[in-house]
Amino acid sequence: MPKVRFVPLDKVVEIKSGETLFKAARVNGIPLGSSCRGDCVCGWCKVEIVKGMENLSQPEECEKKLMVSGNYGEHERVACSTRVFGDVSITTGYW
Ligand code: FES
Repeated sequence: MPKVRFVPLDKVVEIKSGETLFKAARVNGIPLGSSCRGDCVCGWCKVEIVKGMENLSQPEECEKKLMVSGNYGEHERVACSTRVFGDVSITTGYW
């Protein structure tokens, strides 16, 4: 099962392969911005991938639009649209 590390909270959780970063955070009590409740609309769930980008799903169309309109950096993803298939470390500016 993939592990998600939340930096700098130093919390690590195991999730089912294919679950989203958004669910990994919310189910485990990690605060993550959202006004659309994970529908890939608001872009508030932006996270930075510290390690393990290769273990994530490719961006879907809705995510690609948010990445452009939200000026996402090379290592940033929309957590509610990003599925995890291997170990990854993520962070935000507010943790
Ligand atoms: S929670 Fe709104 S885009 Fe992810």
